[in-house]
Amino acid sequence: MGRLIIEGGVPLEGTIRVSGSKNAAVAAIPAALLARGPSRLENLPNITDVAVFADILRALGASVDWEPEQGVMVIDPAGFCCTEAPYELVKRLRASYYLIGVFLARFGHGQVALPGGCDIGLRPIDQHMKGFRALGAQASMEYGVVTVDADKLEGSTIYLDVTSVGATINIMLAACLAEGRTVIENAAKEPHIVDLANYLNAMGARIQGAGTDVIRIRGVRELHGATHAIIPDEIEAATYMLMAVATGGRVRVTEVIPKHLEAVGAKLRETGAEVREEGDTVEVISRGRPRAANVKTLPYPGFPTDLQQPYVAVMCRARGVSVVQETLFENRFGYANELIRMGASIRVDGRTAIVEGVEKLYGAPVRASDLRGAAALVVAGLSAQGRTIVEGTYHLDRGYAAMVQKLQALGARVARED
Ligand code: EPZ
Repeated sequence: MGRLIIEGGVPLEGTIRVSGSKNAAVAAIPAALLARGPSRLENLPNITDVAVFADILRALGASVDWEPEQGVMVIDPAGFCCTEAPYELVKRLRASYYLIGVFLARFGHGQVALPGGCDIGLRPIDQHMKGFRALGAQASMEYGVVTVDADKLEGSTIYLDVTSVGATINIMLAACLAEGRTVIENAAKEPHIVDLANYLNAMGARIQGAGTDVIRIRGVRELHGATHAIIPDEIEAATYMLMAVATGGRVRVTEVIPKHLEAVGAKLRETGAEVREEGDTVEVISRGRPRAANVKTLPYPGFPTDLQQPYVAVMCRARGVSVVQETLFENRFGYANELIRMGASIRVDGRTAIVEGVEKLYGAPVRASDLRGAAALVVAGLSAQGRTIVEGTYHLDRGYAAMVQKLQALGARVARED
């Protein structure tokens, strides 16, 4: 198992470029299967979730040419014929459930094993199923496999009981080839939903309102391939912004969309950091220990749950006590024990963590158990005194492109052992 060795206590200084968005990438890749012709996806991050999804598409019969260094993937769905995605294929990432929407739209039936992904809560898919049924499909779940079947898909109005990113995307995928008009109410508004809508529209779909809570889709008979550049990863960018605050440093992240970073920027200002935006660059300047600031995770445009874990790591060394509420996933504080091993003072009560800032964290061997929890351990290790060894680097590889190189470019003393 790979590990990251961090000699902490160095304020990060310098400039890095953000990579393409993981969550936009893992929606766009299966979406390419909806078309009759090849698509070219650009600015994809060089992460394992992208490579694994490429393998899944190949196993389904599509031809995929993936150039990780260039971030370019050409997907030709001509040979796509298989409508079963077994557990061996889908267990490595959550987003493989987007294949359900794709199978339905292209073939009217399909089977997908319930997917893997980060272990952060129960993660039900009832809203996906509700959406498929509203479009006229039969959808069932037995023996860990989701089966969908439809003579034809017909547009419908679907009100999501919870604002779900995954359900919004899955329904969009299925509905763009359905007959008639679909309306998704209480839709999620995350940036990657807008990105997916832009890509699907470039393929000939007719989707309006992505980025608001009502999305309207007029079904079309056929989609064609298109070229699309994936948006920058706001969670990756924000993770480096948090690292600047954790280490009392100065970090510029280029090629971002500052609008996507508003919630985290506002929160970091509350902790005393200076956050400057200029064009497509954001710069965070921080001196000394941050001030404690409470946070509550919310769907976009609120403070993202994906930053809750690295944010807590920053609060561990804050002046004062912060209360961090996780409203989306019921089990996203698992990493807190590892932070406690580094000297943090954290109490977890259900979905709330109470973090009493300490002056120093101390390096220790720690083990990551999910992607953003791993990022939290790296944040803590960078700000701790002494050596931290983070085990479980494969979690980081799922979502952070070239993390070691980026950290080294910022002056961090970090090395990787595989
Ligand atoms: C997406 O997960 C992201 N994953 C997650 O990114 C992110 O944490 C999450 O959205 C929230 O922003 C991808 O985009 C691949 P949801 P998803 O459906 O779609 C409940 C990361 O670290 N819910 O928006 O699985 C659910 O339990 C990750 O990059 C239902 O009740 O999340 C949760 O409380 C991990 N029924 C809430 O909705 C459903 O049918 C939001 O989940 C679906 C969801």
